[in-house]
Amino acid sequence: MMMKVIKSIAEMKNWSDEQRFRSRKISFVPTMGFLHEGHLSLIRKARELADRVVVSIYVNPAQFAPGEDLDQYPRGMERDLDLCVNEHVDVVFNPETTSIYPRDFKSYVITEDISKVLCGISRPHHFRGVSTICCKLFNIVKPHIAVFGQKDAQQAIIIKRMVVDLNLDIEIAVQPTIREPDGLAMSSRNKYLNPRERAEATVLFKSLQLAKEAFDHGKLNLEEIKMQMYQFIEQHSSGKIDYIEFIDAQNLNTAQPEQSDTLIAIAVFFGNTRLIDNIIIPKRD
Ligand code: PAF
Repeated sequence: MMMKVIKSIAEMKNWSDEQRFRSRKISFVPTMGFLHEGHLSLIRKARELADRVVVSIYVNPAQFAPGEDLDQYPRGMERDLDLCVNEHVDVVFNPETTSIYPRDFKSYVITEDISKVLCGISRPHHFRGVSTICCKLFNIVKPHIAVFGQKDAQQAIIIKRMVVDLNLDIEIAVQPTIREPDGLAMSSRNKYLNPRERAEATVLFKSLQLAKEAFDHGKLNLEEIKMQMYQFIEQHSSGKIDYIEFIDAQNLNTAQPEQSDTLIAIAVFFGNTRLIDNIIIPKRD
């Protein structure tokens, strides 16, 4: 089957209705384009899980605050389409903002509390934009399964919550973070880093590894581990730490390492570029 590029919402809905009518299982990978190995791993998983794969490429203005990088966000449609063809994607959905957010658009999806912590502190409207676009895309693409990356851990938790709370008939699959050989988590925003920042950016993953080692050695004083991570990053980079948090990996409540898995999440600014990363420490027996 030749890959289709669909721009119209009505056409996308019709295509999905037809696939569902023929009992084809649809998996979906929402992206903002400028695809890298991380996205490709999600697409490969989607391919494995269903008969038809839809990838959306849409830089969603609602998840950027004024002054953030909406205009500079890297774009590369031709290359993205070639990569999707190579991964045997069936449809790339690439809508226009005028049809996604028409002038009289008024309805947003807000996931309370869990959208206000971690990245929600420095980006207060971000997750409202993410939940809204994901809800809209789910209604348009009508997938059985949607695949997200663990790198955006908070996003994945919020989307799972939204799917349960709004009774959406979609399974959410979360795939492991794909890293550069030196450990830096793949992200479209890595492109913004100058060579010195790029070299220093490995401190995110290295500090997470430090924390993991401390946990593995039985250290449970979270404040002490956090302090070590702060010191490591400050000593080895010019990065400005936005947050380092230890929280419950299921619901973003206070970490309880003996009762549930712990998410260690970190965000660091290099100049204007904000990088995030995380690891999950399994609960202690
Ligand atoms: O993770 C992303 O690229 C975006 O937040 C998403 C899920 C495509 C929504 O715009």
